[in-house]
Amino acid sequence: MMIEIRGNVEGEEVADAVILGVGADRAMDDAGQWIFERMPRLPHLMDEAEFTGKPGQILSFAGAGDVPYHRVVFVGIGAEPDAEEVRRAAGSGARALGKWATVATTLHSVPIEGAAEAVGLGFALGAYTFMRHKSEPKPSLISTLVLLGADEAAVGEALRGQTIATGVGLARDLVNTPSMEKAPEALAQIAREIAERVGLRIRVLDESEIAAERLGGLLGVSLGATNPPRLVELRYEPEQAKAFVAFVGKGIVFDSGGLSIKAAEGMETMKTDMAGAAAVFGAMQVIAELGLPVKVLGIAPLTENMPGGSAMRPGDVLEIRNGKTIEVLNTDAEGRLVLADGLSLAVEERPDLVIDVATLTGSCKVALGEKIAGLFGADEPAELVSEAAEAAGERVWHMPMPEDYRKNIDSDVADMKNTGPRWGGAINAALLLKEFVGDVDWVHLDIAGPARASDSEHYITKGGTGFGVRTMVEVARRMALR
Ligand code: BES
Ligand code: MN
Ligand code: ZN
Repeated sequence: MMIEIRGNVEGEEVADAVILGVGADRAMDDAGQWIFERMPRLPHLMDEAEFTGKPGQILSFAGAGDVPYHRVVFVGIGAEPDAEEVRRAAGSGARALGKWATVATTLHSVPIEGAAEAVGLGFALGAYTFMRHKSEPKPSLISTLVLLGADEAAVGEALRGQTIATGVGLARDLVNTPSMEKAPEALAQIAREIAERVGLRIRVLDESEIAAERLGGLLGVSLGATNPPRLVELRYEPEQAKAFVAFVGKGIVFDSGGLSIKAAEGMETMKTDMAGAAAVFGAMQVIAELGLPVKVLGIAPLTENMPGGSAMRPGDVLEIRNGKTIEVLNTDAEGRLVLADGLSLAVEERPDLVIDVATLTGSCKVALGEKIAGLFGADEPAELVSEAAEAAGERVWHMPMPEDYRKNIDSDVADMKNTGPRWGGAINAALLLKEFVGDVDWVHLDIAGPARASDSEHYITKGGTGFGVRTMVEVARRMALR
């Protein structure tokens, strides 16, 4: 998608369509007023639709005859829009205008910091579609975003937003891809292509190297699958890095539950179980493209969780990379097993901060719903990541990790067991992960809910959301400022 500047809303054939932000009580900027005055039936139609400019409202009209646009879309941004409101407005506009090639807006001049980046990000995300498996694909036809009356700085900002959206789109594509097309080696190959394209170092461990490196959690989960596991390590090492952050993403390319097999319904969306790994790939691509002065290590343990004849069994004991042992009582609690190895590897390199991102527990989805991720960690790193997430427009909630819950995962035979009581399931999982981070600052994001959306809204398209990419990029940006 191209981003261009053009003079103002009045020109002939500026664009096919225009998106106009409307504040509370139908407050509009000059462009909006110019259009409004030339479409005589608008006040009546807005009354009828009860359109006042509330956030989330959207009204779309044919402009033909009155104004030089085929479509005019008004989007509510409320009384005091923030960056997220602008992202959502741009995204709603893009989703409504998929039939048109060139779309103009003035949303970048909403008087807040970062408005232009928010427009570039929200607009590009809203134009996202996944049509690879449709015999008659109907992708969004949008090819150009026109920023009316903008300066070069605004275009630069909007392009940064678009760069972030492309990384989110990569993660969405990987999540939406059927599991049969994303075996661990296939995903590793995609990681190699990303690394080649944006300039990352990459190391891919195959099954014998995974065994030689004593990654017993990843190896154990992989035993029931025919497709062999991989572990991907991506490295971004700019000169003069200001900080060092590591990301670990859960990469279960399909979660059947293993021998503790899921019911059919629970499996329907389990191609999503590599959303953490996908987000790590997306974030690393963006961070490299933006050239942020932060060293980044990205780790993705990749495997299927399948119930084959050589699968791990309830009661089996696995030894993780850092030497601790886990009794597997439920093979469906597999994410924590592969993350234990990933986290062990990450902390060996002593980063300033480790963040893991994982579709870890149904329990977290029950607690926080589909739109909010559980965030676990000590207060200081948790605050850094929470603030970054909030600024980036991803919703998280800081969850407790009470020490007296640790006995929930005491094992009779090993250092711990991989399941506790049903109650507090997301907390029990986080407490297990904590055993593998030592004294390194660490934050765990349980994205079981927000990794996929069951409906489209504003810049979200139903399916994989790419959740986590924007938070990781924003954390890297903030660490670059320290
Ligand atoms: N991948 C699932 C968690 C999940 C469930 C993500 C629903 C998104 C939607 C995970 O591997 C899992 O199966 N967790 C179990 C753990 C339990 C067996 C302790 C769960 O949450 O039920
Ligand atoms: Mn599972
Ligand atoms: Zn899983």
